[in-house]
Amino acid sequence: ESTLGAAAAQSGRYFGVAIASGRLNDSVYTSIASREFNSVTAENEMKIDATQPQRGQFNFTAGDRVYNWAVQNGKQVRGHTLAWHSQQPGWMQSLNGSELRRAMNDHITGVMTHYRGKIVEWDVVNEAFADGGSGARRDSNLQRSGNDWIEVAFRTARAVDPAAKLCYNDYNVENWNSAKTQAMYSMVRDFKQRGVPIDCVGFQAHFNEGNPYNSNFRTTLQSFAALGVDVSVTELDIQGASPTTFANVTNDCLAVARCVGITVWGVRDSDSWRSQHTPLLFNNNGSKKPAYDAVLNAL
Ligand code: XIL
Repeated sequence: ESTLGAAAAQSGRYFGVAIASGRLNDSVYTSIASREFNSVTAENEMKIDATQPQRGQFNFTAGDRVYNWAVQNGKQVRGHTLAWHSQQPGWMQSLNGSELRRAMNDHITGVMTHYRGKIVEWDVVNEAFADGGSGARRDSNLQRSGNDWIEVAFRTARAVDPAAKLCYNDYNVENWNSAKTQAMYSMVRDFKQRGVPIDCVGFQAHFNEGNPYNSNFRTTLQSFAALGVDVSVTELDIQGASPTTFANVTNDCLAVARCVGITVWGVRDSDSWRSQHTPLLFNNNGSKKPAYDAVLNAL
């Protein structure tokens, strides 16, 4: 096959990309994105601050721009993200306790109702675990609203759009031998045992000096899949874009039947949130990098 999306589709997987609405008028950007990928994640446009800037006033202008571009170009859409400590609008940052709990559920309901039936997988909860060796939850206003906030978010989400796959998504959870990975694993196992509606786990896979790729990523993917959830690589970028590392990540996903797809976190290096890391598959001119060929050959 000659594109990432078509190559991934041979094994029933997707190869996706994060799209920024502000770049949709850049024809180099859109021609690469429409040609190469068959899944889209909105880089920022479906986040809490974008979709509910004022309490009770939803705004789907930018989210719909990304969604409509994706559908018009034949791509499926991942939803990102409904409950998160970051990119909360000011009004939500100042909420706590039962008031925040109510607002979280109202937010999930409002956004998922707007996109009901249109989103294949939703990142319902993003980045709830702390970095480092504690294995604890991250401190946040959501966490302080009660340790059950994650399962409440999933139950609310299931009720609003029963057809959407509901994912937990996090970063620095690729290495099987890390406390954060093990804490996430325990949570997912507990949710499956107790019937909390979770369908998938997303591994952001932002690889860099602080979070280097380790070949035990495949063990991580396999171990989560064995709990009965789909797994996916949701925000892939690799500092320096080593072709070998990109190929390894691709092969790790392909080795796990329930690894449903890979999403890279931007098109060209210049589109990356970490552009100084040159972590993506296309250079600033839109040319394919060696990492691109490595991924395509692996697929
Ligand atoms: C990043 C975006 O790429 C940036 O444009 C924005 O300024 C901050 O958020 N984990 C996530 C993503 O789940 O939503 C983040 O995206 C990157 C880290």
